[in-house]
Amino acid sequence: MSDRVIITDVGPRDGLQNQQKILSPSERLRLINALSKAGVPVIEVGSFVSPKAVPAMVGTDEIVGSLTADSKSLYTALIPNMKGYELAVKAGVKSVTMVLYASESMAQKNVNMSMLQAEDVTVDILRCAKQDELEVITIVSVAFGCPFDGPIDPSVVAQVTGKFLALDADRVVLADTIGAANPLQVRELITKLTKTHGTEKLGCHFHDTRAMGVANVFAAVESGIRHFDASIAGLGGCPFAPGATGNVATEDVVMMLEQMGFDTGIDLNDLMAASDLAVQLTGTAPGGRSKVWLKRYLAEQAERETTAQYAIN
Ligand code: COA
Ligand code: ZN
Repeated sequence: MSDRVIITDVGPRDGLQNQQKILSPSERLRLINALSKAGVPVIEVGSFVSPKAVPAMVGTDEIVGSLTADSKSLYTALIPNMKGYELAVKAGVKSVTMVLYASESMAQKNVNMSMLQAEDVTVDILRCAKQDELEVITIVSVAFGCPFDGPIDPSVVAQVTGKFLALDADRVVLADTIGAANPLQVRELITKLTKTHGTEKLGCHFHDTRAMGVANVFAAVESGIRHFDASIAGLGGCPFAPGATGNVATEDVVMMLEQMGFDTGIDLNDLMAASDLAVQLTGTAPGGRSKVWLKRYLAEQAERETTAQYAIN
């Protein structure tokens, strides 16, 4: 199995949508560019949603218009409906992320739709996106537990996952929106899904509410998953899911995966700079729990390299 793991940094969307301090589009763009410089392969740059529902995401069109064309990162934007799709296409994105639901209450609270209505909208968007040659990533929200409806029946997640893989979605991401999952539950659900669908088109998205985010990434990677969402400096939380704290921090996930021998293609020095920027801009981002150790390790490594260079010269 491949030792390459693809990280999507969702900090500029999932992370910033719920901050008390609303960042300007140019501040959000600085953060995106810092992530891109670090070699993060996919970045969720914002969302095209109702400005009344999520004021922090106003200006995503301006951001998309300013993204560097020759960047190696793929940029995706979250959309909730056809209006969001049209705005995203007009702005120039090449990838859209649609949210599906494993519970009725979450669908109602988040987008004022039933689970089936959200699925129907996604089917229409998939059809348009195929014609427009856009990638469509689908996220199954509250796949491991819902703040309103409680535990989720894995067969509901299996049903929606199967439906959208059959409809040729580019990826189905299982989201632990409120950080309710434990590693055993993660392993069981993924084992169930990969028996039918393989691992290539599945991804995982964990929040770190109960400090099990990295453990859940471990369970998923051991079960074959090679796509993970994470958020720089652990930024995050959903305004419509009470109790959800930030995503698992990108720096913690990258450090663990690299130490396990996986290749993320991400430069840790530049990732530290992006994490510092996230903390500086928001004033509230916690920063990954490995950050203190990582910075010391990177500084020692740089010092060793300088000493070795002097020795050669
Ligand atoms: N982008 C921008 N504006 C949008 C929009 C979009 N994708 N979709 C709808 N709107 C606007 C409408 O034009 C309308 O504007 P008006 O009040 O000035 O006429 C207003 O939003 C309400 O539209 P309506 O179709 O009645 O939707 P609603 O009030 O039932 O809200 C959503 C539904 C989906 C638009 C809204 O709940 C939403 O944007 N949710 C996003 C939630 C989110 O981002 N959650 C976190 C990520 S999972
Ligand atoms: Zn999330």
